[in-house]
Amino acid sequence: MSAQDDLFSAPADDSSASSVPQSAAPAAVEGVPAKVMEEVAQLRLELREASHRYYVLDAPTLTDADYDTRLRRLEALEAEYPQLISPESPTQRVGAAPASGFEEVQHAVPMLSLNNAFDDDELRAFVQRAARTLELDDAGDELSFCCEPKLDGLAVSLIYENGVFVRGVTRGNGQAGEDITTNLRTIRTIPLKLLGENHPELLEVRGEAYMSHSTFELINAQARDQDGKVFANPRNAAAGSLRQLEPKNADIRKLDFCAYQVARIDEKRLLNNHYRCHSQMMGLLADYGFRTSPQLEVVRGAQGIIDYTRRLGEQREGLDHDIDGAVIKLDALRLQRELGFVARAPRWAIAFKYPAQEQETTLEGVDFQVGRTGALTPVARLAPVQVAGVVVSNATLHNMDEVERLGVQIGDSVIIRRAGDVIPQVVRVASEGASREAIVLPDGCPVCGSEIERLEGEVVARCAGGLICAAQRKEALKHFSSRKALDVDGLGEKLIEQLIERELVKTPADLFHLDAATLAELPRMGEKSAANLVASLDKSRHTTLARFIYALGIREVGEATAANLAMHFGTLEALRAADQPALEAVEDVGPIVATHIHTFFQQATNNETLEALLACGLRWEEVEIGERPQPLAGQTWVLTGSLDSMTRDEGKARLQALGAKVAGSVSKKTAGVVAGEAAGSKLEKAMQLGLTVLDEAAFVARLAEWEAGTDSVSGSDSDPGSDSDAQKADAQDSAGEDA
Ligand code: IVH
Repeated sequence: MSAQDDLFSAPADDSSASSVPQSAAPAAVEGVPAKVMEEVAQLRLELREASHRYYVLDAPTLTDADYDTRLRRLEALEAEYPQLISPESPTQRVGAAPASGFEEVQHAVPMLSLNNAFDDDELRAFVQRAARTLELDDAGDELSFCCEPKLDGLAVSLIYENGVFVRGVTRGNGQAGEDITTNLRTIRTIPLKLLGENHPELLEVRGEAYMSHSTFELINAQARDQDGKVFANPRNAAAGSLRQLEPKNADIRKLDFCAYQVARIDEKRLLNNHYRCHSQMMGLLADYGFRTSPQLEVVRGAQGIIDYTRRLGEQREGLDHDIDGAVIKLDALRLQRELGFVARAPRWAIAFKYPAQEQETTLEGVDFQVGRTGALTPVARLAPVQVAGVVVSNATLHNMDEVERLGVQIGDSVIIRRAGDVIPQVVRVASEGASREAIVLPDGCPVCGSEIERLEGEVVARCAGGLICAAQRKEALKHFSSRKALDVDGLGEKLIEQLIERELVKTPADLFHLDAATLAELPRMGEKSAANLVASLDKSRHTTLARFIYALGIREVGEATAANLAMHFGTLEALRAADQPALEAVEDVGPIVATHIHTFFQQATNNETLEALLACGLRWEEVEIGERPQPLAGQTWVLTGSLDSMTRDEGKARLQALGAKVAGSVSKKTAGVVAGEAAGSKLEKAMQLGLTVLDEAAFVARLAEWEAGTDSVSGSDSDPGSDSDAQKADAQDSAGEDA
């Protein structure tokens, strides 16, 4: 029998650890029929299990639709019987932000650190020390150790009372941390209620909150797009999101939690000897619904540990999260107690650290890369160096704030670091170079020579070249020809790339000079598609002022703002001539957007492009100043659930501005229902009545269309509530895209 079998086989009379969960008969609650109580209990159980299978086991059993149906049903029942709502219900993950920041909480059991081992000899010495202290005859060859990856995130401690998550605290200084319960509740791999039955009265679970590489890449890509904060590594990103005061912030939800220790559990459970080993405790936590490390292994003696660290090292690159080593724990809890602690670390555990994925090299220069929105990223040019098996010759410096924070200059010796898939980065200065040169932003854009702007309070410096900067050109052209802008059919991304590569198109105006013969010579372009493209370009010359302004791709000028600008100024000339205060007088335009617009029209190159576009025969109907489209006149809409991108009041005001009446309840006469997150009984009713239901994304998209007057579907005389109209709408939408 292997050590692992031995440790994991639960005693025959153990019924708590791996019992199949059943819904216990719920206690009666006044005013709630027993049938409802049962249904609620059953739904919660099913949802809890489904979520565990999906998030923790990665083996979903319910389809998304089935899950949603159950969740909605539970929400509807809880809305009808609010006395049933309890904090551990699967409907209650996202709560209100703590009113006055995070509170300090004392740890009942201090959160200690671990001593480190950096090579095999130090691991052997650790085992020998343990064997000596335990007065064993051999060198510890028979001792069992539980080995786990050392996750690179943040230690948190979770407290469960009678199976319900009541508090989560950061490590802090080890003695006291911060109460971040509301944030931790949104993490799907933290059970709000433990699976199974017979929960301990008190359970304190410790583990690591961390961010996967894929999530890290995703949120950084979004941050780059939206000028938000770009994080240096997943650990910083996890720390940043955990300390957000607003639990609605979606980044927190994308964190993961992996349990690695039971810090407290009712005494009787430990004493009854069912759980003699750390590894068995981990089995118990897994049964309760926690994620435990899939790389957890029980091994014997120093050689077993050394072999484990080798195996884990080989898997390391392939993992979707950072680990910086392995944690080796004496498995038997009795022996752990016998060994005890020295200073601030246990004698029964040690952290094995892999040789650094860090290397020292020289910073030879800095290039500035220009991104989609013109953002300049300083990129370090390095003397090539091997880091964890790969030659690295450049690394990101993120932005000028980071350059300043590092205090780095050209000529310095720097430490660079590679972790998993993450782009190599400069971590710190190792030593200053004999001759140093400060890193400064270039005077002009390295690609197009335009001015570099860095607005107050912004971390990112960017090229103000807009439409003419080659680096931004491709994205700009995509935007210019997109459906809600000039709506040029048949001009896909691949084609745009080819046109730019061959220098057939530099600015949007060049598009209108393309002829069918030239186009037909491009790969995968026949004569017919070339002719079609020329025809659709011709058609898109006739547009609206709002679409045209939107198409220019001025920063932070979306469809709604473009529509407001068109209505406010009436002509392109008036808009171009507007100064900052005049721009700020436009609805929804604040000082920052006004600056973007003003700067855009100050750039000579943008003006040249504008002139060129007008010379191509672009035209639009005259706009009556102040006239607002009222596509929803005569309709009644209902908003339910919460929206992420705006408040309910804002949604209501925007619907009203489009002519709609906004009501509080759903009826047959309701034209449409906007269902935000956690929408309850109103949504249910709308579905029963077969009404038009928009989720948040659809709502935002339609609002923009209505406000820009680009919506081809709902005229003020149509009734989007009826089925036939909804079908008509679908048909028209897809016709618009495919034609
Ligand atoms: S056990 C009493 N196990 O490493 C020791 N810690 O220096 C309890 N860590 O910040 C810690 N993965 O958050 C343990 N599998 C693991 C771990 C782990 C990461 C972190 C922990 C703490 C540090 C300990």
